[in-house]
Amino acid sequence: DDVTLDFCEPGKAKLKGQLEIAPSAAAPPSYDVIGKSNLEVTPGGKYRPPNCRSRHKVAVIIPHRDREAHLKHLLSHLHPILQRQQLEYTVYVVHQIHGSLFNRAMLMNVGFAQASLDNNYDCFIFHDVDLLLESDRCGYHCPKLSEHGRSNPKHLSVAVDKFDDVMPTYRYVFGGVSIFTREQFLSVNGFSNLYWGWGAEDDDLFLRTWRKGYKVDRTDTEKCSFRMISHSHDRDNPMSAMRYLLLKQSLQRQNEDGLSSLRYRLISKTRGRVFTNVTVDVGGPTPKFIELM
Ligand code: BGC
Repeated sequence: DDVTLDFCEPGKAKLKGQLEIAPSAAAPPSYDVIGKSNLEVTPGGKYRPPNCRSRHKVAVIIPHRDREAHLKHLLSHLHPILQRQQLEYTVYVVHQIHGSLFNRAMLMNVGFAQASLDNNYDCFIFHDVDLLLESDRCGYHCPKLSEHGRSNPKHLSVAVDKFDDVMPTYRYVFGGVSIFTREQFLSVNGFSNLYWGWGAEDDDLFLRTWRKGYKVDRTDTEKCSFRMISHSHDRDNPMSAMRYLLLKQSLQRQNEDGLSSLRYRLISKTRGRVFTNVTVDVGGPTPKFIELM
């Protein structure tokens, strides 16, 4: 940290408010173009405000596979916002290799572990690749401590146009974009590693969060609303059908299943122009195995 600088003043952030969002059907800019429009972002997708000391050290973790157009749209949209918000941040894209079902939750855990090896981030934003923020007044940082000296994890993507800007009606929705401090994420033991294929890993995280005595704070829907880049979600498979069973036993497993049991093979970790790319093999059931089920 550059301790000679004064802390950034939130009032001085040059926010724009409501943002224009390029239609997702449009061709996304290349990484090179994104880099050229974000010259202060350094290799690995890192940034720190040049003239003041940020109050927040944030790692943005984006799980990814085969959604490169979305990723480019997201990065070109997000980098300028994070800079205007005066954050010190790094963007991590955690890429799962082919050969087994996608495991969004495990990639989040890997992102947390790998980011923590690089720097002492105090705040982690777990971010789906297909969600674009509609206003930069929505803060991408961890909340201040509450009056009881304890802050809660936060659910940011409470209003998504796909859901007509109202939260899906069930009370424990926690998907899309969520924010944890390091302590909070360690305390809940991260995500469960057992959800292969689509759905419920975020519901599981909600239960884990409550179990450890936190509530989930929701952002103000006026401030934080998102546009979802349209696509169809991965189809269900026999493994994802198991998600209800897994969810039922979520709390019994919590201390043994999560960051504490995370195993993966790091294939590569490289500093790209606008993000740090972590490529991993997290194991998991193969399509052949699924066929036999
Ligand atoms: C799934 C969640 C998902 C939510 C909203 C639920 O049925 O279990 O994983 O985030 O629907 O799409």
